[in-house]
Amino acid sequence: MSDVLTRSAARNIFYGGSLFFFILFAGLTAHTHWYMVTTSTDSEALTDSVKRGKHVWEENSCINCHSILGEGAYFAPELGNVWTRYGGRENAETARAGLKGWIRAQPLNVPGRRVMPKFDLDEEELDALIDFLQWTDSIDTQDWPPTPAG
Ligand code: HEC
Repeated sequence: MSDVLTRSAARNIFYGGSLFFFILFAGLTAHTHWYMVTTSTDSEALTDSVKRGKHVWEENSCINCHSILGEGAYFAPELGNVWTRYGGRENAETARAGLKGWIRAQPLNVPGRRVMPKFDLDEEELDALIDFLQWTDSIDTQDWPPTPAG
């Protein structure tokens, strides 16, 4: 091999490298999509109420303070696993009542703690929102977050 990088060798490295990484990127994208569709997403439990709850989540910009599965703001706790934190996997009714109670009780205005504002949500919106949080908790995140606190 010559010591000098010729123009054609440089071009081949450029095109070959671009092609290699493009194929790798496309393959990983396809694999991620496949994993989401077949493994991580519980599509049977994806009811209309869960979808409605996602809209309530978006309309009220909960993500401006909270993160969900790591996405969002880091002012307030991660909510992707809040259903587990409230004991929903052991007792769904208590967790639902606890979450509703928490949202209704705001603002707590405890000195030294961050404040969550009051949201005017009716019973149907609250139920849908909690269905959404429950469903999100069922996503197979491969043990993320590493601690229950998120
Ligand atoms: C302005 C910021 C802000 C917004 C917007 C906000 N929250 Fe919060 N939320 C907080 C803070 C701060 C806490 C933690 C308060 C504490 O621990 O005293 C909290 C806590 C919570 C908790 C309890 C979490 C836990 O682990 O105990 C839930 C559930 C929750 N928020 C749901 C929501 C939902 C649903 C929305 C949208 C409708 C929302 N929040 C919008 C600031 C916000």
